[in-house]
Amino acid sequence: MKPALIVHGGAWDIPDEAVDDCKSGCQRALAAAWSILAKGGNALEAIEAAVMVLEDDPVFDAGYGSHLNRDGRVECDAMVMDGATLRAGAACTLQRVKNPIRLARAILENCPHMMLVAEGAERFATEQGIALCKPKELVSEVEHEAWLKCREDQHAAAHHRGHEQGTVGAVAIDQSGKLFAATSTGGTCCKLPGRVGDSPLIGCGCYADSEAGGVSCTGYGEAIMKIVLAKTAVDLLRQARICVDTPAAEPCGVFSGQLAAREAVHLLAKRTHGTGGLILLDCHGNPGFAFNTPRMAYGYVALDGSFVTAV
Ligand code: GLY
Repeated sequence: MKPALIVHGGAWDIPDEAVDDCKSGCQRALAAAWSILAKGGNALEAIEAAVMVLEDDPVFDAGYGSHLNRDGRVECDAMVMDGATLRAGAACTLQRVKNPIRLARAILENCPHMMLVAEGAERFATEQGIALCKPKELVSEVEHEAWLKCREDQHAAAHHRGHEQGTVGAVAIDQSGKLFAATSTGGTCCKLPGRVGDSPLIGCGCYADSEAGGVSCTGYGEAIMKIVLAKTAVDLLRQARICVDTPAAEPCGVFSGQLAAREAVHLLAKRTHGTGGLILLDCHGNPGFAFNTPRMAYGYVALDGSFVTAV
């Protein structure tokens, strides 16, 4: 099977001055993952590589440079899901893990459980050979300044360059047809310590099922959770498959990847009045994306192998 890849750097009110950085971050994430997939490497390695690039880039809200919580600390959540087994690895409220997606992968592959949080998750990271960093190593100057302004005044998007969301994610299918999806985030700015958003929750911020497709979401977690957005989008893809595989006597609604993405984000707006977006690959590798924010940073590999990035 031909490999397929899509990544995102969050759906938010991306200011003009951040557009180039967001695009180049997505471009580098595609390059890191595609160098693995194009050689016949596996989709899990590829999405881990893509998400690590995005986590290391402070223009996105994941890993280094994440939004700070009310106490002035970075607290990250991440998840990865295997479409073949429906098994996930998720880690929440991490304060000392530079690349949360690495720990999510270690949980997926080496842990009897599917989700670990806080100190227990960090202890498991150490056992897995993932070195812990100091909490302040995850704090960027820009986010620290924004946090100081929010503390002196009150929390406002303006203090964060209008930067309310910038979760990252990736979905890939490799040559052997293995499908994985991943999402990583620092969550919302000035959140209460201990708050967990949609990103590490199975079906909310991320979902993968090899029979239908894989999804990674971005946006306001408290809204996304209400409609289990990633699973909702995968269910729409599954309807398409059922319609296509089972010739229907009567016409039925056939959802392409792009239609499924749009319909899921439409439901987010209609039922929750929330804002956000998602990327997906259907099980054949067709990409889809949609958002109801002013902008979303995303990129995918086109059929001819060229990289398409947009903000
Ligand atoms: N979508 C990221 C969050 O709300 O935490």
